[in-house]
Amino acid sequence: MAESTDPAVPATDLPPGAVTRAGRWAVGNRDGELFAVSRRCRHQLGDLSDGHVDADGCLVCPWHQARYDVTTGAMVEGPRGFLGYHGRTPGYTQLVLGYSKLLRLRVARAVRRGAEVVVQRR
Ligand code: FES
Repeated sequence: MAESTDPAVPATDLPPGAVTRAGRWAVGNRDGELFAVSRRCRHQLGDLSDGHVDADGCLVCPWHQARYDVTTGAMVEGPRGFLGYHGRTPGYTQLVLGYSKLLRLRVARAVRRGAEVVVQRR
């Protein structure tokens, strides 16, 4: 179902390093730079709005720590685990990283509008 208005969150919910949910989007603040990407991880659909921004400015999935470039939506590091397992899975990690090249996250603009951060779909 299409969203009829631009999703928004209070700007106070997005201090540097924070990530939150705005409709179907994970919206975050990467060291002062706002971003918005689709919420579902390309691995096993973890909710990226529950993730965090790491020291390199990548969005990290809360389930198996796949990492995403929020400017392109590309997975830059594959998952560490699957389902309930969390740990090293070298071959599997590379497999997921490979197919994720075809399934980038969608990227939108996140802009400050008054007291809100609004997601503007491209
Ligand atoms: S669901 Fe995101 S890394 Fe597994």
